[in-house]
Amino acid sequence: MNINIALLPGDGIGPEVIAQAVKCLKAVEETFGHQFTFTTELIGGAAILETKKALPENTIKLCLDSDAVLFGAIGLPEYDNNPDAKIRPENGLFELRKALGVFTNIRPVAVFPTLLKKSPLKEAVLKGTDFVIYRELTGGIYGGAHTLSGDGTTATDIASYTESQISRITHLAFKAAKKRSKKITLIDKSNVLETSRLWRRVVKRISASYPEVELECIYLHNAIMQMILNPSRFDVILAPNLFGDIISDQASVIGGSIGLLPSASIGDGIAMFEPIHGSYPQAAGKDIANPIAAILSAAMLLQHFGLEEESRAVVSAVNKSLKKKIVTPDISSKSKHGTNDVGDFIANNIVDTDDSLTMNYENIGLGKSTII
Ligand code: IPM
Ligand code: MN
Repeated sequence: MNINIALLPGDGIGPEVIAQAVKCLKAVEETFGHQFTFTTELIGGAAILETKKALPENTIKLCLDSDAVLFGAIGLPEYDNNPDAKIRPENGLFELRKALGVFTNIRPVAVFPTLLKKSPLKEAVLKGTDFVIYRELTGGIYGGAHTLSGDGTTATDIASYTESQISRITHLAFKAAKKRSKKITLIDKSNVLETSRLWRRVVKRISASYPEVELECIYLHNAIMQMILNPSRFDVILAPNLFGDIISDQASVIGGSIGLLPSASIGDGIAMFEPIHGSYPQAAGKDIANPIAAILSAAMLLQHFGLEEESRAVVSAVNKSLKKKIVTPDISSKSKHGTNDVGDFIANNIVDTDDSLTMNYENIGLGKSTII
């Protein structure tokens, strides 16, 4: 298969982790006889420095001319610490999501058996955890107007949702649940927010077309407690934009490190794949960032194009690196391995999957999540 991949490494550790994902994709290309082309462009803080724009036209054009986008991370401390900044690196990501028309961000959360002890949760609590978050990506408080009064003393952020924004992601989430454990949890604040009440009405109505899937609707504050007390109770979590962003960060650490979780942003056209972690500027250039989330994002990209065996080979090589403790310091503080080493090991083991039969695909997640 030929796939043209736009690479947007972005800021901070983005370039380092994307370089490892590309190594792995090249190994897949060789092993399975595919043809991938990679073209790199600027986004975020790196783009602002060079072009004064967070999403330059060249970047939009490249993405729209590609089959898929592999994105690293965005954000620089000089902007985080400056509330008066006129252009922010994050705008690049918002504009890109808009340009691609991606409306669903899929974040699978699975626990690697070898990392059970690494989690802040007890092993018994964590066991069997395997869920996927469907985060709405266009609306809510992210999508509305953000204003500051002339005297700088009053700010507003408008949250709005339309039925059609809710229903298109809801159908995707129900279809995914049908192929998994047939349970959906809608997270909202319908005791407070009108947008949440609209979500409940629309999701309940749609649920009637999927009688085999059980729907539960719970408040955000309850959901975040449940995720710590009993994470294995979740299967598909459906959430509006902001709630989905927050809960997926909490979800990311229960597996042991935020550096492990990938995501896919999909819509009707070109899809984008990205680790869920941020730009972690303190680690940039130090060869300590965990490349696994970026590498698993590449595995999701392969799965998106129906390359199941290829995707499994990547996941299996990742599992092998964890098992053999070829990991970055966030996983094992004593580890002497860096970002590059881990990337090399995983890429080399895509070619040599000798003990892949001993891998537990069931528990490593991606194979169970559904990207349509
Ligand atoms: C994410 C990130 C972004 C978001 C930031 C970088 C704007 O946290 O993709 O989860 O909030 O959507
Ligand atoms: Mn986030």
